[in-house]
Amino acid sequence: MKSIAVFRILIIATLSLFLIEAISGTEGQWALMETPILILVWIAIILFMVAIEISVNSLQRILFHSLDAEAQSRYLEKEAVAEANRFAWVYTIYRKLVGKKKAKTEAEIILDHNYDGIKELDNNLPPWWLYGFYATIIFAVVYMVRYHVFDGPTQEEEYQRELAVAEKEIEEYRKTAKGLVDASTVELLTDAEDLKAGKAIFETNCVACHRADGGGGIGPNLTDDYWIAGGSLSNMYEVISEGGRPGKGMIAWKNDLKPLQIAQVASYIKTFQGTNPPDAKEAEGDLYVEKAPEKLEEAADKVEQTELTEEQLEDDVEIEQ
Ligand code: HEC
Repeated sequence: MKSIAVFRILIIATLSLFLIEAISGTEGQWALMETPILILVWIAIILFMVAIEISVNSLQRILFHSLDAEAQSRYLEKEAVAEANRFAWVYTIYRKLVGKKKAKTEAEIILDHNYDGIKELDNNLPPWWLYGFYATIIFAVVYMVRYHVFDGPTQEEEYQRELAVAEKEIEEYRKTAKGLVDASTVELLTDAEDLKAGKAIFETNCVACHRADGGGGIGPNLTDDYWIAGGSLSNMYEVISEGGRPGKGMIAWKNDLKPLQIAQVASYIKTFQGTNPPDAKEAEGDLYVEKAPEKLEEAADKVEQTELTEEQLEDDVEIEQ
């Protein structure tokens, strides 16, 4: 087979590969890896191309043999010329871009000084360079007008704008992907659906140790205000996901329950708060009072401030003495 035919087949193979990729619209991995049947499709395309090349080639050969000797030699001559000129356009473009004079016309541009036999050619600036230079001038004018005359957005503003858009997108995504929670982002679920699901999970997995009403047995009482691992929702999420203290019997449930399910069952446990079921287990752990985090911070600030003023007082006293 002629090398040009092989070249054509390679190009078609590459193009069809990208076409398959674009049509299947997979992200990350190559489509051929994800759906191996596409490899067959691709091979079929290549085989089809090979078949076309072979049949066109043999058709040409038959036609060639049907010519008389003179026509044959004329045909061969034409072929040879076409072959020789096949890539001539590449060289023409290259010469245009570089603005090179042909060696025989160099005499026209030689300068008439001569330094110890070294002569100088007065070549034009290479067009690729010259037009590139013009392009930068146009760019500079457009840029100046856009950003300095009409006060276009600065990089900082563009960044902030993109950030705002991205944050909105994340927000949207979180709304649709409820299961995307962990101990730090879990929020109390209040939908009847979620609580029902939480109840079902609790009744199949947890009642053996915590009792159906949460009063406690092997496991601690879940209805009071005292918690071993902390009473916030994220503390509960953590315990259910990762398990209690070693050897106490509360296993990690992260392999059996999905994040959303853990959030559901934790929210369900929250509904036990203050129900006071009969003969519940005695309180264990520390008293937990629900507090908004900001308030905690405020309180901490106040404590620090009183300490400061006390110090200052002491200083004052010392000065007075
Ligand atoms: C085999 C018995 C057992 C099962 C089953 C069990 N737990 Fe526990 N659970 C315990 C024990 C024991 C503790 C105390 C752990 C400790 O002391 O660290 C505990 C602690 C907890 C705590 C923290 C209580 C606190 O005071 O901080 C929560 C919340 C909890 N379990 C929820 C669940 C949920 C939800 C399930 C079902 C998915 C479950 N448990 C299943 C035995 C169990």
